[in-house]
Amino acid sequence: MNKFGFACSMVVVLLLSGTLSAEGADKTSISKGKKIYVSKCQNCHGSKGNGKTKVGRSMNIGRLSPSMDEKEMIAVIQNGKGSMPGYSKSLSKKKVQDVVNYIKTF
Ligand code: HEC
Repeated sequence: MNKFGFACSMVVVLLLSGTLSAEGADKTSISKGKKIYVSKCQNCHGSKGNGKTKVGRSMNIGRLSPSMDEKEMIAVIQNGKGSMPGYSKSLSKKKVQDVVNYIKTF
């Protein structure tokens, strides 16, 4: 490998490790999560997760807590809870993580 090739591969390695160390909570993931949230969750949970929507009030949904344990949040989103439907069939693991990353910005 010549020097240029080596330099290029180092850049690739640096870029990749940068992406991984952000644990997927990068801007792209958050903005993808926002789209999913707006289309699937907002109707019940409200735009900032406060639950103050027509449906949210009727179901007595509390505020979504961004500090909720991440694993617990993922489990609720995948399996549902009470009158909330589960999304394990319609959202991939990656998409559930995107939504979780978005909720954490509330
Ligand atoms: C049909 C209305 C409805 C929709 C749509 C909905 N939820 Fe919920 N969600 C609820 C209800 C009701 C609860 C409270 C369940 C309980 O505590 O009994 C809840 C609870 C939660 C919780 C747990 C909060 C806690 O304190 O236990 C999370 C996280 C959550 N929802 C995320 C989401 C996400 C993300 C989406 C979209 C992918 C979504 N929800 C879509 C009704 C809904």
